Amino acid sequence: MAQTSSFSLSTPIFYVNDAPHIGHAYTEVAADVLARWHRQAGDETYFLTGTDEHGQKILRTATANGVAPKEWADRLVESAWKPLLDTINISNDDFIRTTDARHEAGVATFLQKLYDDGHVYAGEFEALYCVGCEEFKPKSEIVDGVGAFEGEKVCAIHSKPLELLQEKNYFFKMSAFQDRLLALYEERPDFVQPASARNEVIAFVQQGLEDLSISRTSFDWGIPIPWDSSHVTYVWFDALLNYITARGYGADAENPAAQLQHWPAAQIVGKDILRFHAVIWPAMLMAAGLEVPTTVFAHGWLLVGGEKMSKSKLTGIAPNEITDTFGADAFRYYFMRAVSFGHDGSFSWEDLSARYHAELANGFGNLASRVLAMNAKYFDARVPEAGEETPADAAIRELAASVAARADAKIEAYAIHEAIAAVWELVDALNGYITEQEPWALAKDPAQRERLSTVLYTTSEGLRVLAELLAPVLPEATAKLWSALGAEATLGELSARPIREAGTWGVLPAGAEQHALAVLFPRIESELPTTGGAAQ
Ligand code: ME8
Ligand code: MG
Repeated sequence: MAQTSSFSLSTPIFYVNDAPHIGHAYTEVAADVLARWHRQAGDETYFLTGTDEHGQKILRTATANGVAPKEWADRLVESAWKPLLDTINISNDDFIRTTDARHEAGVATFLQKLYDDGHVYAGEFEALYCVGCEEFKPKSEIVDGVGAFEGEKVCAIHSKPLELLQEKNYFFKMSAFQDRLLALYEERPDFVQPASARNEVIAFVQQGLEDLSISRTSFDWGIPIPWDSSHVTYVWFDALLNYITARGYGADAENPAAQLQHWPAAQIVGKDILRFHAVIWPAMLMAAGLEVPTTVFAHGWLLVGGEKMSKSKLTGIAPNEITDTFGADAFRYYFMRAVSFGHDGSFSWEDLSARYHAELANGFGNLASRVLAMNAKYFDARVPEAGEETPADAAIRELAASVAARADAKIEAYAIHEAIAAVWELVDALNGYITEQEPWALAKDPAQRERLSTVLYTTSEGLRVLAELLAPVLPEATAKLWSALGAEATLGELSARPIREAGTWGVLPAGAEQHALAVLFPRIESELPTTGGAAQ
């Protein structure tokens, strides 16, 4: 038996100032593929996502739209953010909103503990703030504005003017954790991934850490500071705590960590918010005497015209623009396969369409249709029996074991694109095997009946392996294939198949009754929007 363990995972919680675009969906899909893989492996899996609802950015958007911030957040969560999870088939176990009572109570408890333990002090502060980032910007991310903002200082990410803020704030003594953070990165080289992100974080902390302003007095859309209700909690300090308040921190106010479960967790974030997760967040946890995350993995950006796709720059593409035409499976496959996880990638409709047709429709979909059609025609829609094995059959059997093992190792290493590429070796090999073995020719010669049966067993069992390994990426198509293969009735539910044993050969029982399979990935004839460039 393969080893099972536990796997707890979080995405960032997203701002509800606007509806999601494909960048947010990208993070959700990556996390979902990891969660589904581990769940199918039998690991005790917990997957959390949610929304970030306090702070100036949300307050200003709500005000501009003439509604109270909570009403705005409710509207966006119900009409846009929760529906996104259905649009792309996300299997999250919980959804946290920072306006949930459980979260607000947990944040207050956490803050009070840090205050009581001497990690917080009152002070004065003046610095340049980006409302888009909800952050006082370090010098390295302040640039000169161009065009309408000529002569002003702007944020390097949002290209919008910074605001000079001067307030009496409470501060978290983050500087005290500099050495412990550096020791953490040193002792646990996998704590921040990929290596480029780790190097960036180490260089940043080595420059010296300042204390962190954690409260605001100029507006009131936030969680009150428990010992001074004239301040609200800084939105990032509030938001980061979702990872533990959703997992039970603070449920028992007397002993706040007593009901904390599924912690520590792996954290998938975009590289734009790496520092918050790899520096501030572990320092906060250390101060509270809690464990730091298992891993902080920073993925790259989806680019449009060479720039980060973003809500604020109006370059966002809504996920359903893609899923309405191509379906959720194709959305999931495309972004996981075409973009190296941990690197930037340019989205283009042309590349999406090309990969959809070449890899999903002609590669995988056509393989499944051909095999099931031949089984129906030559074996009365039953799984054929395997006869004597030839070297060509053995090569497929061995490749199945090899890709299954390699894909699991790649998932462990967060190399999702490489895991899929490994599995695709089997798709391509099975298509090549059919071309070489020519089952339609064998079928014409009664003396070759046993050979025909062996060839079609090999391809059917190959599809069984593919269904199991691709279920985390293509949940809809593989469910249809599973049932058509006769696997559902004989081997049980696909989601319960132990994925780390997928490469074990000879599992699909001969004689099992099969069903017709509708085309998994129909050709798309409709006109698509145009974009330049290809994903890389
Ligand atoms: O930062 N490419 O929320 P946010 C890839 N609320 N991923 C992208 C992307 C792009 N072009 N654009 C956005 C916040 N993302 C905070 C987080 S966590 C305690 C608080 C994804 O709505 C990516 O995951 O600005 C990025 O880190 C996140 O959305 C930022 O979402
Ligand atoms: Mg953002």
